[in-house]
Amino acid sequence: MNLKILFILFLMALTTIFILVTVLLTRKEKATLCSVEPQASLKERHNNQSLVFAGLSAEEMVHVIRYLQSHLGLPLVDAFHANPSDNCIYSMDLQLPSKDEVLNFLDHGGRWPTRQALVVVYFGNQSDPNITEYVVGPLPVPTYHQDVTVQKYGGKLPYHSRMVLGKEYEQIAKFLLETKLPEAPTFLNQVFGHNGSNFQGLTSAPRGFQSGDRATWVALFQNVPGFFLHPVGMELLVDHSSLNVSCWSVPKVFYNGQYYNGLAELERAFLEKRVHVQKIKTVSSDGGFSSVNPRVPPMGFGPLHFEPCGPRYSVSNNQVVSSFWSFAFRMDVNRGPCIYDIRFQGHRIVYELS
Ligand SMILES: *[C@@H]1O[C@H](CO)[C@@H](O)[C@H](O)[C@H]1NC(C)=O
Ligand SMILES: *[C@@H]1O[C@H](CO)[C@@H](O)[C@H](O)[C@H]1NC(C)=O
Ligand SMILES: *[C@@H]1O[C@H](CO)[C@@H](O)[C@H](O)[C@H]1NC(C)=O
Ligand SMILES: *[C@@H]1O[C@H](CO)[C@@H](O)[C@H](O)[C@H]1NC(C)=O
Ligand SMILES: *[C@@H]1O[C@H](CO)[C@@H](O)[C@H](O)[C@H]1NC(C)=O
Repeated sequence: MNLKILFILFLMALTTIFILVTVLLTRKEKATLCSVEPQASLKERHNNQSLVFAGLSAEEMVHVIRYLQSHLGLPLVDAFHANPSDNCIYSMDLQLPSKDEVLNFLDHGGRWPTRQALVVVYFGNQSDPNITEYVVGPLPVPTYHQDVTVQKYGGKLPYHSRMVLGKEYEQIAKFLLETKLPEAPTFLNQVFGHNGSNFQGLTSAPRGFQSGDRATWVALFQNVPGFFLHPVGMELLVDHSSLNVSCWSVPKVFYNGQYYNGLAELERAFLEKRVHVQKIKTVSSDGGFSSVNPRVPPMGFGPLHFEPCGPRYSVSNNQVVSSFWSFAFRMDVNRGPCIYDIRFQGHRIVYELS
C-alpha cells in the first residue's frame, strides 16, 4: 500500500517535471526568435536630420497665412469660399531646400538649411488677374516673401489656367441646375422625368483647345450609387471663363449623337419633334448592379497581418528605420508621397523618390 502511494507520487513528480521542462524550453525558443529585432535597438538609430524633409506643421501654416494676410497689402479670402474674382491662397507646401544644401548638411556637418514655404496665390480681385508663387521664410515665423513666378516660369502665369477650386465646381453645378436646365423643361421632363435632383455630373479636362479657354464638358448620369456607370447620354459644355458667374454660358449641348447650340435650342428642336429620342431605362434608387452594398453577407475575416514580435520597423517624426533600411518621407501637395534619403545598411542609394 505505502509502496503504491510512493510510486504514484513519484509518477506525478516525473510528469510535473516533464511539463515544466517542456514549457520552459518552448518559451525560451520563442524568446530567442523575437529578440532578433528588439524595438529598442531600432529606436536608437533615429535622428532628427530627416526633419529637413518634413512637411509644414499646422503651426507653421498658420504663421505663413498670418504673415501673408498682413504683408501682401491685398485682402485674401478663404479658398473654401473664394469666388473666381477673389484673391485666395491655393496651396502651401514645403519649399524643399536645394540638394547641395541638404547633402552638405547631412554628410558634411553643414548648417541646417533655412526652412521656407512655397505658396501659390490666386489674384482674382485685380484688373489683370494672375497666379503668383511666393517663397516665404524663414519658418516657423516668417519675415520675408519673394515672388518667384517669373524666375520660375519665365513670365506671368495666366489666371484662366488655374486649377478649379471646390467652390467653382459648386458654382458650375448650381449654375446648370438653377439657370440652365430650366431652359429645356419639356425635353428634360418627358425624356428623363427630370425633377431637379435626378442628375449627377462628371467633368472632363482639358478645359478648352487654346490659351484663354476655360470651358468644361459636364457629362450627366443618373443620380444613384455608382452613378458613373449610368450615363444618360447628354453632355453640357459650360464656359466658365468669366470671373463674373452671371456671365457664364452653355454654348454647346450633346444629346444622342447630335450637337445643339444650347439648351434653349434643344428644347425648341424637341417641341418641333426634330430630336431623335432614345429613352434610357431608369435604374432602381440603389443603383442596381453598380450598388456598393455587398450582395452576400461577409464570410468571416480575410487574411490578417500579424507581427508576433511587434513591428520590425520604427517610425519617429518623418523617419522610418528597419534593420537594413532607413528613409524620410513627406506628402507633397502636387506630387503626392515623396521618400527621401533612402539608405541600405547606412549607404544612401536614392536621394529622392516621388
Ligand atoms: C536636432 O537635435 C539636436 C541635438 O540632438 C538639437 O540641437 C536640434 O535643435 C534638433 N533640431 C531640430 C530641428 O529638432
Ligand atoms: C477686392 O479689392 C478691393 C480693393 O482692394 C477691396 O475693397 C475688396 O474688399 C476686395 N474684395 C474682396 C472680396 O476681397
Ligand atoms: C501678379 O499680381 C500680384 C498682386 O497684385 C503682383 O504683385 C504681381 O506683380 C503680378 N505678377 C505679374 C507677373 O504681373
Ligand atoms: C426625383 O426623382 C428621383 C427618381 O427619378 C427620385 O428618387 C427623387 O426622390 C425625386 N425627387 C423629388 C424631389 O421628387
Ligand atoms: C456681373 O454681370 C452682371 C450681368 O452682366 C452684372 O449685372 C453685374 O454687375 C456683374 N457683376 C460684377 C461684380 O461685375
